[in-house]
Amino acid sequence: MTQNTKIVLSSDHGAVDLRQKIATHISALGWEAIDIGPMTLESTNYPKHGEEAARRVASGECQYGIILCGTGQGIMMAANKIKGIRCGVCGDTFSARMIRAHNNANMLSLGARVIGEGLALEIVEAFLTSEFEGGRHATRVDMIEAMEA
Ligand code: RB5
Repeated sequence: MTQNTKIVLSSDHGAVDLRQKIATHISALGWEAIDIGPMTLESTNYPKHGEEAARRVASGECQYGIILCGTGQGIMMAANKIKGIRCGVCGDTFSARMIRAHNNANMLSLGARVIGEGLALEIVEAFLTSEFEGGRHATRVDMIEAMEA
């Protein structure tokens, strides 16, 4: 992943603070963070935020997405409904590397009520610095894509 890669970020109300910290961190590291909010703590519905971020990735406007809700689960489920999106929830750095290396994930989901800021930033870096290995893993990702046809 090159450092001028555009990364869309979104969340629900449960993860606004952590999302903004991640956006600041990845910008400082040289990636382009496109933070599409929400910017307030007003209660909101995670499916629409997962969908909006996922559509920006699926359209090619952004190359990767990072989305958050309380657990990371609901917003991940919404994002994965959009064709071309492969999004996984990660609570550890090994999984964050592997969803890139083996699953060619283009979105990462985090649970702001599950992990702390320090681990979240390490997971994000692991995701953004790992590359898809291709080969037999490409065959498997192709099988997932075939289900969308
Ligand atoms: C919102 O209360 C909460 O349900 C949401 O952030 C998320 O955890 C859903 O998966």
